[in-house]
Amino acid sequence: MVQNSLLDGGKTHDAIPYPRDSRWQREWGRYDYSRSGNPTRDGLQATLASLEGGVGALAFSSGMAATHAVTMLLSSGDHVVTSADCYGGTYRLLHKVCDRAGLTVSLAPSHDLAAVEKAIRPNTKLLWIETPGNPLLSITDIAACAKLAHDRGLLLGVDSTFATPVLTRPLELGADIVMHSATKYLGGHSDLLGGALVVRDKALYDRLYFIQNATGAVMGPLESFLCSRGLKTLELRVREQCRTAAQLADYLAGQKQVRQVYYPGLSTHQGHELAARQMDGGFGAMICFDVQGDFQVAKNVVQRTRLFHLAVSLGAVESLIEQPAAMSHASYDPAARAAHGITDTLVRLSVGLEAFEDLRDDLDQALQASATE
Ligand SMILES: Cc1ncc(COP(=O)(O)O)c(C=O)c1O
Repeated sequence: MVQNSLLDGGKTHDAIPYPRDSRWQREWGRYDYSRSGNPTRDGLQATLASLEGGVGALAFSSGMAATHAVTMLLSSGDHVVTSADCYGGTYRLLHKVCDRAGLTVSLAPSHDLAAVEKAIRPNTKLLWIETPGNPLLSITDIAACAKLAHDRGLLLGVDSTFATPVLTRPLELGADIVMHSATKYLGGHSDLLGGALVVRDKALYDRLYFIQNATGAVMGPLESFLCSRGLKTLELRVREQCRTAAQLADYLAGQKQVRQVYYPGLSTHQGHELAARQMDGGFGAMICFDVQGDFQVAKNVVQRTRLFHLAVSLGAVESLIEQPAAMSHASYDPAARAAHGITDTLVRLSVGLEAFEDLRDDLDQALQASATE
């Protein structure tokens, strides 16, 4: 295994230890300033670390702030390889913000290990994957990526927002960092914005704590409380949402207005067998499908549902619908979007806790009406 230079114990930056261990804390008390430490946030972080099996967790003001903190481990001239099937905001951060700090980025279809290996350069420091990917729900082999990353001296970070710790625990599969948009399943009720990093290694944790404290994008106490409360029902929600999503995916696969359905639980899905091994007892509650027709037909579908609310978020108790090309992935360059299969006719669903029959009937009326317009 090649030693990763980002784990150099802070030779290039001053890493301060987590306050709990520090002399500062002993002398001045545990909670002297809320950016550096807060009891409600600490409670949430302890739960998150336990759920993911990490040495520690850090709660951020948003998922993007969490991802941004990881990129701040890197220095000008470093290179990142990331999943082509990734959240549009991650694409925007890496291509349109981090580029100004001198980072370069390559997208690779991370379900294809040979393609990932090919994208790695001598200056690559971070492999950042999303599984299931957003929006096409491609499945990436976390353990294989961890081996590849560590053999080449890279860190592996996994955006596990879609999977949640109920279905996948990336640190147990060898990842160094797991990231969540806590805005989604962890919170679960569309009433908070937050992000989280959970880390396997203490030295890396200390460096991320230093970055978070220095840059300040911490989760507030109210959001920390709401997220802790959301976590109490995480498993119940996710299991039920997976059950309904599987039924909806089967329904959609049988509709003539639907060209293709993307759902890891379908045997026709690209990563189905890997998902069955890597995901614990469910395939998630996100579904995408391509409608027959054009951009306008897909737009009509997302505007016609009544129970599925039109919004780009996901992972909450209420079901949501959106059109990635115009909404969640609008910040992709159009050519990159086309190259990665994010078509104008794609519709994305986040399945909530409503009854399957009601959700099916809602989609049914939207598909029928949109096709005849
Ligand atoms: C997979 C994924 N990662 C990261 C994010 C960013 O999270 P946030 O909106 O909390 O900043 C999102 C948001 O939609 C997402 O879907």
